[in-house]
Amino acid sequence: MKRIFVILVILLIFGSFALSKTYIIGTSADFPPFEYVDNGKYVGFDMDLIRSIANLEGFQVEIRDMSFDSLIPALKSGIIDIAIAGMTITPERLKVVDFSTPYWSADQDVIVKKNSNYNLTVLFGNHKVGVQTGTTGDLWVSDNLIKTNILKSIVRYESFIYALQALLNGEIDAVVLDSPVAERFAQTQPVSIVGIIITNENYGIAVNKGNSELLSKINDGLSKMRSSGQLTSLVDKYFGK
Ligand code: ARG
Repeated sequence: MKRIFVILVILLIFGSFALSKTYIIGTSADFPPFEYVDNGKYVGFDMDLIRSIANLEGFQVEIRDMSFDSLIPALKSGIIDIAIAGMTITPERLKVVDFSTPYWSADQDVIVKKNSNYNLTVLFGNHKVGVQTGTTGDLWVSDNLIKTNILKSIVRYESFIYALQALLNGEIDAVVLDSPVAERFAQTQPVSIVGIIITNENYGIAVNKGNSELLSKINDGLSKMRSSGQLTSLVDKYFGK
């Protein structure tokens, strides 16, 4: 009797594992502490967040790294099911994808190479300012500085890794990027923050427009994490002193 019970339990565990759905998660793993590669693994706040949501909601995840600007097209074409990449909820994006409830807020920061003597005026004139293609930083610089002729050149990079490298090599003078990531780079790299642009952004997890079944799983997972204190522990893990 006992043996049958054990076999049943084993079957049940394996059965539910096999039946539970795998969702493909797209990210742009160049954005510490939200998503980055450490020892060949995708780690960071967003990576833990989506894995915990998956645990709570009973699905599996498979993470795919891609350029930030290909995440929304990948959602639209069904190459990925979920995008989590410190992605700001914007009216433009809301026309094509759906977002979870917000889980983080950010502004844009201006970073320069440490000891370069630059200040906020690095955003004017002949300087070269780097951004990641298709981000809200790209949009802000394009709309407010390039279109108005305040700044001559913007350099777009597929990844923040390349933007940071270019900054450190002296190929560009500044990078405009999300404040939490700029703050992390200022702690770990020879760069300093010389300005903050208040943009009041909120991050959300994106799914293809109309995928309400998956979106409600994500929102349900998020709200469970909020009320259980799991979200606070995650914040402490990646942002705690
Ligand atoms: N929050 C900004 C945006 O949505 C930048 C996000 C960049 N994320 C990344 N994983 N590189 O446009």
